[in-house]
Amino acid sequence: MCGIVGYLGHREAYPILIKGLQRLEYRGYDSAGIAIYDGETIKMSKTKGKVSDLIDCVKEEIDTKGTLGIGHTRWATHGVPNKVNSHPHYSNSGNLVIIHNGIIENYETLKKELTKRGYAFHSDTDTEVLVNLIEDIQIKEKIKLGKAVQVALNQVVGAYAIAVFDKNKPNEIVVAKLGSPLAIGIGDDEFFIASDASPFIEYTKNAIYLEDEEMAIIRRGKKIRVRKISDDSLIDPYVQELQLNLEQIEKGGYEHFMLKEIYEQPSAILDTFRGRLLSDQAIIKMSGIEDNMKRFLNAPRIIVVACGTSWHAGLVSEYIFEDLARIPVEVEYASEFRYRNPVINENDVVIAISQSGETADTLAAIKLAKSKGAFVFGVCNVVGSSIAREADAGAYTHAGPEIGVASTKAFTTQITVLTLIALRLARAKGTISSSDFRRHLLELELIPEKVKTALTTDDIVKTIANVYKNSRNFLYLGRGYNFPVALEGALKLKEISYIHAEGYPAAEMKHGPIALIDEHMPVVVIATNKGHYDKVVSNIQEIKSREGKIIAVVTKGDTAVKELADYVIEVPETIESLTPLLTTIPLQLLSYHIAVMLNKNVDQPRNLAKAVTVE
Ligand code: G6P
Repeated sequence: MCGIVGYLGHREAYPILIKGLQRLEYRGYDSAGIAIYDGETIKMSKTKGKVSDLIDCVKEEIDTKGTLGIGHTRWATHGVPNKVNSHPHYSNSGNLVIIHNGIIENYETLKKELTKRGYAFHSDTDTEVLVNLIEDIQIKEKIKLGKAVQVALNQVVGAYAIAVFDKNKPNEIVVAKLGSPLAIGIGDDEFFIASDASPFIEYTKNAIYLEDEEMAIIRRGKKIRVRKISDDSLIDPYVQELQLNLEQIEKGGYEHFMLKEIYEQPSAILDTFRGRLLSDQAIIKMSGIEDNMKRFLNAPRIIVVACGTSWHAGLVSEYIFEDLARIPVEVEYASEFRYRNPVINENDVVIAISQSGETADTLAAIKLAKSKGAFVFGVCNVVGSSIAREADAGAYTHAGPEIGVASTKAFTTQITVLTLIALRLARAKGTISSSDFRRHLLELELIPEKVKTALTTDDIVKTIANVYKNSRNFLYLGRGYNFPVALEGALKLKEISYIHAEGYPAAEMKHGPIALIDEHMPVVVIATNKGHYDKVVSNIQEIKSREGKIIAVVTKGDTAVKELADYVIEVPETIESLTPLLTTIPLQLLSYHIAVMLNKNVDQPRNLAKAVTVE
């Protein structure tokens, strides 16, 4: 998984490429590189490390003059992160230069063929094989770059978003897409290429999102030509007007994107239900649900597929759907589901949850479900993303861009959308009374304010972070609706502070994790006054008698837990099904502060990527 950028126009390409790469670093940041062409010389600089390291290298290595350029930020799949494996890659003649996001699965076979034909390879990447395949075809068949790219891609198995140029064509970049995202920004006599629109948002609001199996030939001063890779047919591309603005993708005074995004949750949740939750009329309006109501009501079950944090939101939804709408729900890791020959029936509804809408496993899972006739509903944040487009219908979370790798506002807005869906279905099925339905709507409307209050726990959370920051392990416990929150709290800590943490259903503790508890083990327990409060209090007592350190998230005004716990964090009261939206807030803050105190890279934790577009 990687980020790609490109520019062809009348401005100097370098500053545009560098700024674009910085915005795309959420996609990968183990190495970076650029190539700039001034019509005479191709200048390339690349390095292991971040875009900031690349800037230093560029200063020493190349002059940056030129109005055509491409750049790449890498998340290694084939070949370790080092300078040689970084993109761009040259073809053997030095004429072609390529950047690539994705995986060429049959690269070994292609490499053997090309080696026999005299090609030499300097890196361990699949990408270098692709660029030489294009060159081989170009020379063998005496055809232009665009045609050679097309022929080559028809021989390739895998996923890609590529941009390639030819030294002999100083006014042209060829791009193509299958599986990985690729957007083209269209300005006045200038074109921008990127994995998402954030690198070019300040230059143009007009963009084309290439569809799978499409390629485009971008020429200076000419109209873009988009073609189908498989049969060469010309396509009239849809030019979208982007809704994104610059402010949304900058840090706005916060030290990290993650902190900004944690604090954006009140407004993000409000944006999620704006226009959908009409409490004065006691209705929920979501066109994706209304238009497909029959499919939902006839479904014998709902299968939720997702990965990572989105999977945790899926687990919360299992409780909501079963509790309120009485529809059986199965929550599956997309990566398992896609390969385990699952039983999928035509009447099943599959809900795919994905912040980015690009996660490869989730995309593959929904393709599988669709092939078996199931109806697929997408819950995505990124508008126009692959999953949003592949699904039969869907609902966006409208959380705004999430840049921090550790997901925060995506989680709470996913839960909000799923709650709206469950409530709407419960009303349609008659499994919720009108007074209870209204109560839920009114309570949901109060959530943004209550999240704001939950955010005021920041100081006490910082104190707790300081006390426990050097612990080697953490345990997170919760029951019912708050069991997935415990999993999510543990995941946040692991992701950004690299401390081992486990989430567990509180009652399961006695079947194993209790053996780990001693005076060195901080245990974060979610113990709100709703749900199984007394049982959780008993669990807390069990921890206390084994000298574990107790950090409890409780409902404001709690007294019983206060007496037992080492620290309590109070969140406002709400109805049980909505507690995850509040209890998760201090857990996000706890992981954030610990990571900052340990001097970790909060927004770009090691080995992770924001969107995993490879298996
Ligand atoms: C990556 C990210 C996680 C995210 C997961 C699923 O692992 O680092 O934060 O939860 O992918 O991503 P999605 O975009 O499908 O929600």
